Amino acid sequence: MKTIFKSGENADAIKQAATILQNSGLVAFPTETVYGLGADALNAEAAAKIYAAKGRPSDNPLIVHIADKNAVYELADNVSEKAVMLMEAFWPGPLTIILPKKNIVPYGTTGGLNTVAIRMPSHPVALSLIKESGVYIAAPSANTSGRPSPTNAEHVKEDMDGRIDMILDGGAVGIGIESTIVDMTGEAPTILRPGFITKKMIEDIVGPVRTDKAILCPDAAYKPKAPGMKYTHYAPKGELTIVESSTNDNLAVINKINSLVSEKTNAGYNVAIISSEENAGKYNCEHIFIAGSVSKDETVAARIYGILRQCDDISADFIFSEAFDKGALGSAIMNRLLKAAGQRIINV
Ligand code: TXA
Ligand code: MG
Repeated sequence: MKTIFKSGENADAIKQAATILQNSGLVAFPTETVYGLGADALNAEAAAKIYAAKGRPSDNPLIVHIADKNAVYELADNVSEKAVMLMEAFWPGPLTIILPKKNIVPYGTTGGLNTVAIRMPSHPVALSLIKESGVYIAAPSANTSGRPSPTNAEHVKEDMDGRIDMILDGGAVGIGIESTIVDMTGEAPTILRPGFITKKMIEDIVGPVRTDKAILCPDAAYKPKAPGMKYTHYAPKGELTIVESSTNDNLAVINKINSLVSEKTNAGYNVAIISSEENAGKYNCEHIFIAGSVSKDETVAARIYGILRQCDDISADFIFSEAFDKGALGSAIMNRLLKAAGQRIINV
C-alpha cells in the first residue's frame, strides 16, 4: 500500500482523508496529545484494520473521537450528571470518558467490552477531519504496538508507512502524552490512565476520584481496568533504568547515573542518559537527551516519547533516566517512563 503524506492544514487533504475514512480506510492524524490512527468507529471491518496495522492485541479497545459533545448520546447510555460536568469542563481536550456503550458501537471497536471510551479532541485538524467525514473516528496512538506513541508525523511515518492509506501532518503535538482516561461507569469516577488533565483538576469538578489500583501498584497482581495498560508499552529497544532519590538527593542521582554509564561504556555498550535541563551539564556520556526543566514538566511530557525514539535511532543498549515525578504531570510522566523501563527503578 502506498501511504499518502499531506499537510493537515490543507482543506483538500482533509477532504481526501475524509473520503478514505468513509470508505473503511485508515488515516493517521494529529491530536493535541499524540498522533492517532483513525478508522470509522461504527464499522467493525474498518476498526479491524487498525489492529492489523499496529499489530495490536484484539482485546485492547479503541477510543472513539467525536467533534460535538451531543454525539455522546448516540454512542453511550446512562450518561451521568458527573460525566456531563467533565465533558463541559474539559472538552474539547485531553480527557477520555468511559461510559456504557450503545448497540451502535461494534464490539470490534470496544475490544469486546460493553463500555466505550469517548473523547472530543481539541486539535483543529482532528476536529475538521471528524466533521468533514461525518464519521466518529476510532483511534489509538499511531505507533506500532509496543513502540513509543508518535508526537510528530515523522514518527508515524517510521511505524506506519506502507501500512495505512494516509498521514495528515500537523507538525509536533502540544502535549506529548496520551489523554487522561476516567471511567464513569462505576460508583466513583476512576482514573484508568493519568494524563495532562490531573486528578486534582477532575476532583475540582466532580469531587472525590479514585485511581485504578493497577496504576498505583504496577508490580502487584492487579488487573488494569484499561486493557491497554497491561501491555509493556512505549518501550525503547535498549534497557531503560530510572534512577530516583526518595530523599531528593540530586547529587546522589547524578553520581549513580555517572557510575552506571561508565560501567556500561567500559564494557563496550552504547549508552544514553535522559536528563533534566538543570543536571545535563553534570554527566559524562556521549548521548545526553534533555527532557526539559524539572520546574516545567509540560516540557518533559512533550519530549519524552521523541527521546525514547531517539534512543532507538542511536541504537542505545542501555538508557539511564532521572525521575520526573515532582510536578503536576509527575504521575502521568512516571506512568509512561516506568512502563518504558519495565518498572526498573533504582532508589539512591
Ligand atoms: O490521547 C489519546 O488518548 C490518544 C489520541 C490518539 O486520542 N489515543 C490513545 O489511544 O492513547 P490508545 O489506544 O493508544 O490508548 C487507549 C487506552 C488503552 O489503554 C485502552 O485499553 C483504553 O484506552 N480503553 C479504551 N476503551 C476502553 C474501555 N471501554 N474501557 C477501559 N479502557 C479502555
Ligand atoms: Mg497507545
